[in-house]
Amino acid sequence: MFETNSKIQDESIQGKAFDSLTNQESPKKFYIESYGCAMNFNDSEIVASILHEEGYGATQDPTLADLILINTCSIRDKAEQTVRHRLMHFKAYKKKKKALLVGVLGCMAERLKEKLLEEEKLVDIVLGPDAYRSLPHLIAEASEGQKGINVLLSREETYGDISPIRLDSNGVTSFVSIMRGCNNMCSFCVVPFTRGRERSRDTYSIVKEAQELFDNGYREVTLLGQNVDSYRWENEDGNEVVSFAQLLEKVACIAPELRVRFSTSHPKDITDDVLYTIAKYPNICNYIHLPVQSGSTRLLQLMNRTYTKEWYVHQINRIREIIPRCGISTDLIVGFCTETEEDHQATIDLMKYCKYDLAYMYAYSERPGTLAARRYADDVPEEIKSRRLAEIVAVHRENAHQSNIAELGKQHTILIEGISKKNKDEYFGRTDNNKVVIIPKMNFNMGDYVQVVITECTSGTLMGKVLN
Ligand code: SAM
Ligand code: SF4
Ligand code: F3S
Repeated sequence: MFETNSKIQDESIQGKAFDSLTNQESPKKFYIESYGCAMNFNDSEIVASILHEEGYGATQDPTLADLILINTCSIRDKAEQTVRHRLMHFKAYKKKKKALLVGVLGCMAERLKEKLLEEEKLVDIVLGPDAYRSLPHLIAEASEGQKGINVLLSREETYGDISPIRLDSNGVTSFVSIMRGCNNMCSFCVVPFTRGRERSRDTYSIVKEAQELFDNGYREVTLLGQNVDSYRWENEDGNEVVSFAQLLEKVACIAPELRVRFSTSHPKDITDDVLYTIAKYPNICNYIHLPVQSGSTRLLQLMNRTYTKEWYVHQINRIREIIPRCGISTDLIVGFCTETEEDHQATIDLMKYCKYDLAYMYAYSERPGTLAARRYADDVPEEIKSRRLAEIVAVHRENAHQSNIAELGKQHTILIEGISKKNKDEYFGRTDNNKVVIIPKMNFNMGDYVQVVITECTSGTLMGKVLN
């Protein structure tokens, strides 16, 4: 995960290939690269599980692969351009190895469909996010020389029965998908088109997966959905209904040593019930990602976010009342259609009020087919978008620095997640409120909980002195 809390992101997580998997001796090998949000990374783990059942082993080296898969993101144009570059790169591999198959999975597959097969003849398989079970069938077809495509979206598919094979794992923290799709129609966003209707995964399979992770030594799970507050699962008889607050509680009750996080909350849907549940259980982390997108009510309406600036501020105030030490992060878009200097200033004012600990900041990128692309002109010039982005990044840096300075002298329990990138003799871990803390390695292990006091900070990182 990240060792910084200030970044402009083009994809939520940049394309990482995973390292290891079982079945290294397997005759057939696949290589997978993932782009986009955590849900996409989690999907790659489902795909790995499906391929594992088919006798495929994983490789980190694409030159050794019989099958190369790219799990793609469409959220901004730049995300798609990155994938196109990777496909051009793999074209050379196809020339050298005639039997090599290349597949495009995920949101870009869903958005572009057959077009991907036609373009430059780089791709053999195109598979949308709800069609991963048909991958073995499409591989068989593509091996026979036919192009394989399945981009059907489903109202039911949650892959609830598939145990993901953890890729690129630190063995301490893991994602667990609790729902798929999105029913909100934010006018800038491509996700409802690429991921389809919202559906919730059955509670029992979620709790089972989290329990298994804990039994295997994991100490943190992050429950994932595009809008977790609208999680609602009902059993077949309709006599058992589980809300998001109840799901959180069930996962928290697995063990006090298992930390629970979640993402993403929607300002229109987050409830006091959820806030009180977080406050009640020490192992549900005091951290909420509450994307606001803009501080201007006029723009929020054009974005179809269905709340006003005042409503958002009310939600922030409720969080601070009920969970006083809660870390809060957000997503922001600058340069959305018709954005004026006044709207932009409203965003800056809101940032100064909310004092976010972490912010993901983007320039608006028009996505074909979305409500905004059909209704409004993308009329803010690129250089103004860049200037406004730089301005909000500066405001955020200052906020984050102040928020880190306020941590000096405070005590925290951190969970050790990995070795510091800058110094091999140091670990990094996270506080309950999601701040990264660097500590000396001493005799600790990954997955240990350590008591620290914060001694130094930058705008991105805290340094801790070990107390236990
Ligand atoms: N479901 C979450 C929500 O409601 O906020 C997040 C969805 S999206 C994967 C992550 C972020 O990407 C959004 O919160 C938004 O800030 C940004 N985003 C989405 N569409 C965008 C676009 N067309 N241009 C720039 N940023 C965009
Ligand atoms: Fe996109 Fe809005 Fe759904 Fe988030 S809530 S995924 S921004 S449509
Ligand atoms: Fe990208 Fe699809 Fe996620 S568009 S952000 S990979 S849901």
